[in-house]
Amino acid sequence: MPLLLLLLLGVILPGGDNEDVFQGPTSFHLKQISTFVNSTWAQNLGSGWLDDLQIHGWESDSGTVIFLKPWSKGNFSNEEMTELEDIFRTHFIFFTQAVQDGVNEFQLEYPFVIQIILGCELHSGKAIESSMRGALGGLDFVRIQNHAFVFAPDSGSRGQKFCALMTQYQDICNVIERLLSETCPQYLLGVLDAGKADLQRQVKPEAWLSSGPTPGPGRLLLVCHVSGFYPKPVRVMWMRGEQEQPGTQQGDIMPNADWTWYLRVTLNVAAGEAAGLSCRVKHSSLGDQDIILYWGHPTSIGLILVAIIVPSLILSLSLALWFWRRW
Ligand SMILES: *[C@@H]1O[C@H](CO)[C@@H](O)[C@H](O)[C@H]1NC(C)=O
Repeated sequence: MPLLLLLLLGVILPGGDNEDVFQGPTSFHLKQISTFVNSTWAQNLGSGWLDDLQIHGWESDSGTVIFLKPWSKGNFSNEEMTELEDIFRTHFIFFTQAVQDGVNEFQLEYPFVIQIILGCELHSGKAIESSMRGALGGLDFVRIQNHAFVFAPDSGSRGQKFCALMTQYQDICNVIERLLSETCPQYLLGVLDAGKADLQRQVKPEAWLSSGPTPGPGRLLLVCHVSGFYPKPVRVMWMRGEQEQPGTQQGDIMPNADWTWYLRVTLNVAAGEAAGLSCRVKHSSLGDQDIILYWGHPTSIGLILVAIIVPSLILSLSLALWFWRRW
């Protein structure tokens, strides 16, 4: 009996690793992408994210935050938000200038891109962990760990120089420290609560089948599309009966514009073996009612037949009746 219960639970809880009752995001991060084209031209992109859902943009001309959701301010007052905007505005100006000034010293070559991600994450047991990472040209360069800068092993002398530089800017370090240890955790708890209705909603997927470009002579690419679901965790499998097909290829889960997700799962099969295969979709919004779509499902042909035959039968019957009455 307990075994049966476990099996049932395994079916209901996708992946079995979702024991946490809380569905939805658990982290908040600020992202900065700075592109330096030449000595006079640089561009900064700023954004705020709850896991992989964007809730803030950055208007660099005016130096203001764009709130993408009505609850994007969390429980912060307008004054607190203005203070943060001031910090970010100053940061972008200072950062751009400091990097342009340090191009020779750090032996940087135009064009290059710097990415910074700073934020905090709620762990089970309500502990919040903050972190910051910086990358240069797509490679990890520096991160903050236990209140100190740590350099990627291959950052070489650049890392040491950066370290020496940062000790001169104790003010900046203090601001970063405060953002990480106080502001972010406070904001995260507030915004998860303010956006609860949106963040913890359940939206059912729609699913449909199609065939992809022929993978080779005598072969078919079966495509199962699953779209419009929220939250993100989903499990989509090509099956024969109860047997999951090993060649199943899962694409990336892509964002739709309306805060739902889209996934494509394909299977490359010999044309003769496609019949009897099905695509099975498990998602928290569906409870234990998985969506199951059969490839070339016979009932669809049956339905077409019914749809043609029944109306023609009715038509001929009524015609016969009409003639019989007239006659
Ligand atoms: C820097 O790049 C911008 C944009 O590509 C260009 O318009 C400008 O002329 C460049 N300036 C220099 C000094 O090369």
